[in-house]
Amino acid sequence: MNRAILASLPLMLVVSAHAQDAKPADPAPLQLTAPQDHKLMMEALGIKSLREGANGMNRSAPNAANYDESKVKPFTLPDPLVCADGTKVTTPEQWWNKRRPELVEEFDREVYGRVPKDAPDVKWEVVETKEEKVGDIPAVTKRLVGHVDNARCPLIKVDIQLTLTTPAGAKGPVPVMMEFGFGGFGPRPGGPRTKGVTPKTADAPGKKAAPKAAFPGGFGGGPSWQQQVLAKGWGCAIIVPNSIQADSGAGLTKGIIGLCNKGQPRKPDDWGSLRAWAWGASRALDYFETDKAVDAKQVGIEGLSRYGKAALVAMAYDSRFAIGFIGSSGEGGAKLHRRNFGELVENLTGSCEYHWMAGNFLKYGGPLTPADLPVDAHELIALCAPRPTFISYGASTGPGAEGQWLDQRGSFMAAVAAGPVFRLLGKNDLGTAEYPEIESPLTEGELAFRQHKGGHTTGPNWPTFLAFADRYIKLQNAPATSGSGSQ
Ligand code: GCU
Repeated sequence: MNRAILASLPLMLVVSAHAQDAKPADPAPLQLTAPQDHKLMMEALGIKSLREGANGMNRSAPNAANYDESKVKPFTLPDPLVCADGTKVTTPEQWWNKRRPELVEEFDREVYGRVPKDAPDVKWEVVETKEEKVGDIPAVTKRLVGHVDNARCPLIKVDIQLTLTTPAGAKGPVPVMMEFGFGGFGPRPGGPRTKGVTPKTADAPGKKAAPKAAFPGGFGGGPSWQQQVLAKGWGCAIIVPNSIQADSGAGLTKGIIGLCNKGQPRKPDDWGSLRAWAWGASRALDYFETDKAVDAKQVGIEGLSRYGKAALVAMAYDSRFAIGFIGSSGEGGAKLHRRNFGELVENLTGSCEYHWMAGNFLKYGGPLTPADLPVDAHELIALCAPRPTFISYGASTGPGAEGQWLDQRGSFMAAVAAGPVFRLLGKNDLGTAEYPEIESPLTEGELAFRQHKGGHTTGPNWPTFLAFADRYIKLQNAPATSGSGSQ
């Protein structure tokens, strides 16, 4: 046998071992379209029809999105500090031991779905380490792949993509801000600089933002968020949501959700993509706990739009995340479900977006209504307490607006209604129930809110967020030259 054949032998063995693993007893993973999978879920729930969502594209459509405050119907929010049995929560212990677990259960079952108890392990591999400059800051970037154990269904492979960049001069573990990134690993830094995303306006729903380059320039030509973070001596990371779970109902029999179900459709309380993306972020945090470059007790999570929703879900569920920067998250994120303004629950229950949520959530698009939801967005924000949580938006109207589809005001109201939980836990909330002017930050407490004039992005809010974060996140061993980027 020559060397070439010998060298290929282990690979052949691996391949045939995998082929044996796929026992004929296991049916092949299903490949469904989103409408097919959506219909199956409706059948499983006994739902005959769903109400139509709001139309954000056509102002003269009969179901045109409501952008008129005078047409907002009155609603009552569930009290985050009253238990299901009517007990009033008056101590932090009652919150931690009774009310919070109750809320988590409601969100799990009815809204975002449950992570399976036997979700597989992830083994992280550093596939590349390289020294580079981010702007003029010397840094080390690791490209990582989180191999998800797929012994239960070898035909479904899930490899989570993550990049971690830390300052080259770091004298010890550093805090890290992690972003749910658009696109894959993307072009490497040092390549042509791009102008970043040209995101859709939020009043034109459905279009996805263009993929980002690894280190695109910052907002208005200023430093990128990565440069701003590295200049403080912190690290930055990007996790790729699509490498965890596809952003489509057609992907629900694949990705981590499909793997756990061996390629079969979800049960009504199984997780949706938002919960799956958040799970992936938690697995990245597991990795950070093993990497000496990272101060894993000071890791924050950030995302925009659908990934703003995911960032809020990650922050709410995993209390190891030290801080959250929740960008333009809208319906399914910080926006109150019960408020009929902009995007509605009925949009999320349609076949284009239902995959973000648990199957059970479909019930609230017909026959039930948003008012029947046992929880609302203020309680998701409350689950983040007492950790610092920054709710970010672009202005809804006027110059530099991102549109009204996301319902900035409804998200502000949710943050106000989460306030009592922050206060119960000894922290400060927004400090006012009065809707603030554009660009006037409410950042005095642990709960923060600001609208900028830069459209559908978190870009212009980074400096305000970082000033807020400075109160909580501390670099333990400041490098000799912090911020200048010179050696
Ligand atoms: C659509 C959708 C929003 C979502 C946004 C995005 O506008 O209706 O809920 O946040 O897309 O993620 O880009």
